[in-house]
Formats: sequence, structure tokens, C-alpha cells
Amino acid sequence: MENGYFKKNEQSGTQKQANGNTGKTKPGGAQGLRELFTHELKDIYWAENALIKAIPAMVKNATSDELREALSKHLEVTKEHVTRLEEVFSIINEKAEAKKCEAMAGLIKEAEDIMESTEKGMVRDAGIILATQKVEHYEIATYGTLCAFAKTLGEHKAADILQETLRNEREADVRLSEIAESFINEEAMAAE
Ligand SMILES: [Fe+2]
Ligand SMILES: [Fe+2]
Repeated sequence: MENGYFKKNEQSGTQKQANGNTGKTKPGGAQGLRELFTHELKDIYWAENALIKAIPAMVKNATSDELREALSKHLEVTKEHVTRLEEVFSIINEKAEAKKCEAMAGLIKEAEDIMESTEKGMVRDAGIILATQKVEHYEIATYGTLCAFAKTLGEHKAADILQETLRNEREADVRLSEIAESFINEEAMAAE
């Protein structure tokens, strides 16, 4: 992570070992958690915006109507996630700012590689489901943690907003599993 938060924290860890306390420029406790919370919000804000750009190619590459519909619907929901994150930034008095999320950049790259290396049809659809479920799981982990942080910090309104997005990510994951189980995996085998 190039943005200094973790570097700062490493130093803080060293200092903590030396004197049992965090230095005044290396916040621990509530202030440290608030910084981590803000850092992660910026990370997922970048990720959601990147997904808005990436999902249309997945829709174009998908063959199954069910999958295309699920992805299109999730694209619209993803736009709402960006708006909700802006609300959260505003609630905690922080500027809505995106910091590159290397993990999401990698997951999107993986999705692109899968689409390039598979035949259009059921196999590519299965690959798109695989790649997008990895994305959803990353988002579920992130929003679950952000909700917990918000509650710990007493930011209950922010927690409710993040919870709403967490629910959408879980719904998308379940929907993708249903599509995969209903026909794609079987069809991919039958096409051999
Ligand atoms: Fe999202
Ligand atoms: Fe999502």
C-alpha cells in the first residue's frame, strides 16, 4: 500500500514495543480505527467506481439472459453503492476520495483474462460467474468489516447505510450461485 497509512502503522508498532505507547503522530485506539475506517472507505470507493467501468464488458461477454440480467441489475445497484459511500464520507466529515484498491484491480484483471481465454458461451459465462463471485466476496468482507468499524466508532447512521450495501452484495452472490447451479455448469460439461 503506497499511501502511508500502513507504513505509519508499522512505525507505530515498533514504537509501541519500545515504550508500550503509540507516539502522538501515530494514533492508536479510536483515532487509529477512524483512520483505518476512512482508508478502507477510500479503497472500496475506488473499487466500486472501477466496477462501474468493468461490469458492462461482462454483460457484453455473457450469453445467458439470466446472467446478463443479473449483471445489469448489479451494475445499477453498484452505482447506488457509490452514492451511499459519498453519503458515508459526508456523515463522517471526510472528503469522498478514491485510493486505488490493488485487490479489486487484480480481480477485474482476472475477469478480463478469463473472458479473453474462453469461448463465448456457457464456459465463458461460468468464468464470468467465478470472477464476479470473487468480487462479491471481496465486497462482502469489506462492507462487513466497515459496518463493524462504524458501529464501534458510534457512527450508527453510517453503519446502517453500509449494511444496506452489504445486503445487496450478499443478494448478488446468492443470485450468481443460483444461476451457476441452475444450468451453466451442466451446460459447460455438455458442450464438451
Ligand atoms: Fe458494491
Ligand atoms: Fe457487488
